[in-house]
Amino acid sequence: MSKVRVGIIGLGSWGSCHLEAFHAMPQVEVVALCDRNGERVKELGDKYSVPNVYTKSEELLERTDIDLVSIATFEHEHCGPAVAALQSGKHVLVEKPVSTKLEEAAEMAAAAERNGKFIFAGHLLRFEPRYADIKNAIVSGRIGEPQSMYLKRGRTKGMFRTYKRTHTVFELTVHDLDIAIWYAGSRVKTVKAYGKAVNDEVVPDILWSCLEFENGTMAFLHSNWMTPDEAGIVMNDAAEVIGLNGTAQFANSGSNLQLWDGAGRTSPDYFIHHTLNGSAFGVLREQLTYICNCVAAGTKPEYTSFDDAVHGIAVAEAIIRSCASGQEEYPQA
Ligand SMILES: NC(=O)c1ccc[n+]([C@@H]2O[C@H](COP(=O)([O-])OP(=O)(O)OC[C@H]3O[C@@H](n4cnc5c(N)ncnc54)[C@H](O)[C@@H]3O)[C@@H](O)[C@H]2O)c1
Repeated sequence: MSKVRVGIIGLGSWGSCHLEAFHAMPQVEVVALCDRNGERVKELGDKYSVPNVYTKSEELLERTDIDLVSIATFEHEHCGPAVAALQSGKHVLVEKPVSTKLEEAAEMAAAAERNGKFIFAGHLLRFEPRYADIKNAIVSGRIGEPQSMYLKRGRTKGMFRTYKRTHTVFELTVHDLDIAIWYAGSRVKTVKAYGKAVNDEVVPDILWSCLEFENGTMAFLHSNWMTPDEAGIVMNDAAEVIGLNGTAQFANSGSNLQLWDGAGRTSPDYFIHHTLNGSAFGVLREQLTYICNCVAAGTKPEYTSFDDAVHGIAVAEAIIRSCASGQEEYPQA
């Protein structure tokens, strides 16, 4: 089978992880890179021997030798390059949140349909073994249909200084929204949310969202940016799913490896994306492998769902409205 030819737009901290992971995949050739920061994109092109580097996405999209475009630009700048890529005949992976506006998310889905191309959302937790196994335990009946779910995502105060550029619901909660929608197998009917802005004037760094699904499942999502940097914990996440027949749960504060040095203690994450001997492995690579397999075989993705991602944005908007109104809100269809 010939290689999947990839272009990447947006090579900041996460886009460069895409590059590392694609670079490690023998079935992929990274053909072109684009970032507004010319120095950065040139440096990465040299490091990974990618010959074509651009500062304007239009130039990358003019190329006819790209099968898949990965978009890891700022959260509010996904739609323009995604729709243009689909119109130029390429499949698209768009990072989470697929957009910060429901109408843009719907526009991307429509553009994929119109142009006969696949669009994938960067919801990589569906490829994280523990989240994936909970889904298996739901489907097999081992724990059975979820009745109540609790999904938590905690990050550091330091990261909030960068990511408060976007509402917490789009940066953190959107991961758990996708998981909750996937597990429930249903659409969210009502939302009641509570936000507390502790370290910012506007954006809540503590956000609780209570969801009720059409099939009666309840979900409680807790996102926060309150882990002190000094704790050395990159990720403070948890899941508990109570089904008709049983319960699945885990709590995940990093990898369990602890490194103590003069600067304190760190517990790095090894699961999502890591490099060893110059080669990347982890959940991101698993996700990109699935996507590239779909592209290479022309098989419509069934395991991931862009429709679920669009619904997630509708729910995210309802969460923001509920924080402001103090009332129950309803996701737009
Ligand atoms: N799936 C995950 O687990 C995960 C993890 C981290 C970040 N993300 C998502 O990835 C996206 C990028 O986040 P990040 O942390 O890498 O941000 P970042 O600020 O580090 O990088 C963004 C990069 O995109 C470039 N850029 C922005 N708009 C552009 C445009 N229109 N054309 C070309 N270049 C453009 C910027 O110059 C910058 O280098 C966000 O949507 C974020 O939510 C996902």
